[in-house]
Amino acid sequence: MRLRDKVAIVTGAAQGIGEAYARRFAAEGARVVVADLNEDKGRAVAEAIGPPAVFERLDVSSEDDTKRAAAAVAARFGRVDVLLNNAAIFGGIDNFDSSYAYLRRIFDVNYFGTWLMCRAVFPLMATGGGGSVINQSSSAAWLHPPYPVLDDQLPSFHYSVTKAAINAMTHYMAGTVGLYGIRVNALAPGPTMTEATKSLVPEAALQFMIDTQMAIKRALDPADLTGTALWLASDDSAMVTGQCICVDGGLVMLG
Ligand code: NAI
Repeated sequence: MRLRDKVAIVTGAAQGIGEAYARRFAAEGARVVVADLNEDKGRAVAEAIGPPAVFERLDVSSEDDTKRAAAAVAARFGRVDVLLNNAAIFGGIDNFDSSYAYLRRIFDVNYFGTWLMCRAVFPLMATGGGGSVINQSSSAAWLHPPYPVLDDQLPSFHYSVTKAAINAMTHYMAGTVGLYGIRVNALAPGPTMTEATKSLVPEAALQFMIDTQMAIKRALDPADLTGTALWLASDDSAMVTGQCICVDGGLVMLG
């Protein structure tokens, strides 16, 4: 029970990696706010976890939603100890054909959504004596996937750029809010088998990446990530801040 009595918000927790984080945190004693745009799936996850979990509908890219969600959590629990900024959208295929509006949306959700959640939650953490923020990054921040070997499509690098920006923000933010006892770290997964990956990444491209760029020759499962998130959320990492931890089977190291 390494998160006993802590209150944790996990964004994008209605499915995939975020759901796995929410379930693990609850199993370790935390009261968990399952925060997501998808109301049906989010409620179902909170109900499946049981009483330690509540659902909060929000769009992380909406300033109003982030403020309202933070106020709702404050009213219900009176504190926030852990914020895991996991919600994100993926990039699509072509850098040059994608609409400008969609590219702006990727930045609004992935980068500014992370920032807006931090800004809404920091005052609560500070008055509670501190907290741990975990920003979900990606190995894509360093490596552009090798999809072009498969066909003529150019994979979009804008998703990768949002993750690189999250790493930079994590670094600067950690230096800014440490004074208030708030730690800020990033967690960068390698390719992880979720619905999003299955629908977006061609199987052959994934296998190519595993074969040529990973030391451990398999894709990750969300369960491979929860231990590191738990460590970053818990007091076991009390003096760790401003870091980006890669959990990627050696992808970034070899890539
Ligand atoms: P997913 O697409 O399965 O889940 C994302 C969740 O975020 C969904 O529940 C969705 O409703 C929610 N969401 C999307 N936009 C939102 C918004 N504006 N406000 C609130 N919630 C929103 O994705 P997956 O695969 O579970 O990935 C989760 C995180 O892990 C993302 O940050 C992703 O970039 C990162 N990641 C994923 C990898 C993978 O291979 N699946 C690898 C590296 C990083």
